[in-house]
Amino acid sequence: MFEHNNLLGLKYLSATEIKEILEQATYFKQLFNRPVKQVPTLRNKTIVSLFYENSTRTKGSFDMAIKMLGAGSLNFAVSNSSASKGETLVDTIKNLASMGVDGFIVRHSMAGVPELIANNVDVPVINAGDGFNEHPTQALLDMFTMIEQKGYIEGKKVTIIGDIKHSRVVRSNIWGLSKLGAEVTVCGPASLIPHGIEEMGCRVVHKVEDAIKDADFINVLRVQFERQRGNFFPSVREYYHEYGITSARLKAAKADVLIMHPGPMNRGVEISTEVADGPYNIILEQVRNGVAVRMAVLYLLLARRNEL
Ligand code: NCD
Repeated sequence: MFEHNNLLGLKYLSATEIKEILEQATYFKQLFNRPVKQVPTLRNKTIVSLFYENSTRTKGSFDMAIKMLGAGSLNFAVSNSSASKGETLVDTIKNLASMGVDGFIVRHSMAGVPELIANNVDVPVINAGDGFNEHPTQALLDMFTMIEQKGYIEGKKVTIIGDIKHSRVVRSNIWGLSKLGAEVTVCGPASLIPHGIEEMGCRVVHKVEDAIKDADFINVLRVQFERQRGNFFPSVREYYHEYGITSARLKAAKADVLIMHPGPMNRGVEISTEVADGPYNIILEQVRNGVAVRMAVLYLLLARRNEL
């Protein structure tokens, strides 16, 4: 039984708890093929989405998941809220909580903000990406997609290539995948690999060909230009040349390797269009599964409160 009040990161979940979420998501995914897709288990609940950073997929699929569970949502474009008038974040949250909302979904450019919010409200808080820290629902949907495609995760080789330093997706993936028994390799320019990342439970390889040759999955990450302070490689052209995932480069990979990307993609930077749209990509499957996984998280955190 899932006992947490919040989903702040996969760092805090056990393998059993991760599997419980993924099983619940499998159930919800079956609904997608039914004419009536809604399961109104969260009717009468109102969930606030607070996105202090831009988002397409994460925001869209949380909205979709909320709708499919029959809950209501309050969307705050933070630029329109009183945050722009100097109100502190905690005051904003406490005001919203006083209106009787049942849960918060939070994205923020600073690591730790979802946890700060969770410490100030007594309803569930879901981290939708905090700084360079974690993005737990992204890693959950990545793992869900891997299991859907290959049956299981234990012993699978997962290579994550790109801007490791500025990625919260990679951190949640390393926690989750290593707990489920995968072998995780990270790869990228030395300037974009944080010192000591191996201690989280992964291997670091700098040469792309070595990193991809045995991989069952290659998860390609965006170069996070907007989060970088400084020059981490000489030019975009050189990055593409050295690290871009192209068809030519994939000749070194296994014939049945699957290509993933959390989005948004920068075609011609970290991935070629041919690969992004090619036969091994499961990128839109990831997006589709994101809805089922987020339904599972919302259900496990909020529906039980119905029953109490
Ligand atoms: C990622 C994010 O915002 O952390 N995108 C996502 O949520 N699917 C990755 C990114 O911004 O590159």
